[in-house]
Amino acid sequence: TTAALPRLAFHGTGYLGATYAICFAELGYEVIGYDVDINRIAKLSAGEVPFHEPGLEEVLKRSLAGGRLRFSTNLAEVAAFGDVHFICVGTPQLAGGMGADLSYVEDAVTGLAQHLTRKALIVGKSTVPVGTAEWVERLVDKYAPADLGVEVAWSPEFLQEGFALQDVLRPSRIVVGVRSEWARELLDAAHKGVCDLAAAEGRDVPVVVTDFATAELVKVAANAFLATKISFINAMAEVCEVAGADVTQLARAIGHDPRIGNRFLKAGVGFGGGCLPKDIRAFQARAQELGAGEALRFLHEVDLINQRRRTRVVQLAAELLDRRYGPAGPDLSGVRIAVLGATFKPDSDDVRDAPSLAVAAMLAKAGADVHVYDPQGMANARRAQPHLRYAPTMAEAVRDTSLVCVLTEWADFRDADPNALGELVAERRVIDGRNCLDPVRWVRAGWRYRGLGRP
Ligand code: UGA
Repeated sequence: TTAALPRLAFHGTGYLGATYAICFAELGYEVIGYDVDINRIAKLSAGEVPFHEPGLEEVLKRSLAGGRLRFSTNLAEVAAFGDVHFICVGTPQLAGGMGADLSYVEDAVTGLAQHLTRKALIVGKSTVPVGTAEWVERLVDKYAPADLGVEVAWSPEFLQEGFALQDVLRPSRIVVGVRSEWARELLDAAHKGVCDLAAAEGRDVPVVVTDFATAELVKVAANAFLATKISFINAMAEVCEVAGADVTQLARAIGHDPRIGNRFLKAGVGFGGGCLPKDIRAFQARAQELGAGEALRFLHEVDLINQRRRTRVVQLAAELLDRRYGPAGPDLSGVRIAVLGATFKPDSDDVRDAPSLAVAAMLAKAGADVHVYDPQGMANARRAQPHLRYAPTMAEAVRDTSLVCVLTEWADFRDADPNALGELVAERRVIDGRNCLDPVRWVRAGWRYRGLGRP
């Protein structure tokens, strides 16, 4: 029954914290979401999700109406409310370094610890360098009233933007790093809703109970593996390009082996976003500190392969446009180019480290007149790259261009009619930076088509 469930507080209502708060209220928990950002809290309280995530706003409205969910900027209230406090704040890349900036974690934990008036469990969810949970425990010992017996646990999350509802309600696994039976039982209760839902649907959610360091490492290891898988297929794309082979067929063929698997084998302009790029860098930095830098040297290569895909698009653009190379790279001055896609992947409005925007900026720097369009990411893109030009529609973006670059695989672009677009452009040239278009269709409509890693 609901009464037996622990009350959950989520600290930080960014992508992670907001999604978890909303989904756990949906599962029947009493939930509070805390943030220092008054605007965010006001929006969420009014039933508005401050980022693009399919389906989330409906669930937010339902949970608010059901009275199980509220948002607050009052830490004393939140501290009094929660049995379990999940720390969901960001851990961005340090300015001027490769490591993770833990100042938001530090602020969240010390603030909470100082306000606690009863025993509670503080659970880290943010992606952090291994060793952080122990450090959080020391912060709690220092700042929480000693007689309360506040404890710490670590439980990383694996949610993917665009699939957040599914990933939180139906996770592939639950990982908990705990140091006491009490913490373990409380976390079991906090995850009961997820496990019950799985049971009702005839599924099983694997639960891995482990120590702090392993729990922390699971997260960065998983992201490092995914980044490596993407860079692997992009390295194959580089080879395919010089060998005249087709990386999409190669990926399909190797992916049939269940040991390899066909997911996360899409060659293209590479990975971006707020997680994979910064996580592989922070992981290297931490391993270096621990004296195991050599073990992760390959991640440097993974990063380089990923960056090279971006320059490859610029190179392809110059090739397709028969433009010469100057000492500073290709000269694209006077060419009008459409960049379709600004977000780091479709079904998101997130432009953090987006390959598409980076390429748009490189094309502009090479002298091209670049017009960017994205179905959801325009506001964020404008903020991140204010000097680029933005078109209100796909049609406006491609109008009178000599080259169209599709750099995020939005369904709108995938399904676009090459004949209709062909009527708008000055010349029919297209770079398919995500291998998401049907080359046969585009070539039949008179376009010069180039994919990444395809002949
Ligand atoms: C990633 C992980 O997939 C999540 O499991 C993890 O929880 C999350 O980071 C996190 O650490 O919070 P996300 O950043 O939402 O999730 O994005 P992904 O779907 O992993 O995509 C990352 C990038 O890789 C995108 O730019 C995407 O276009 C690219 N990608 C993905 C490829 O280029 N090829 C592929 O085959 C797959």
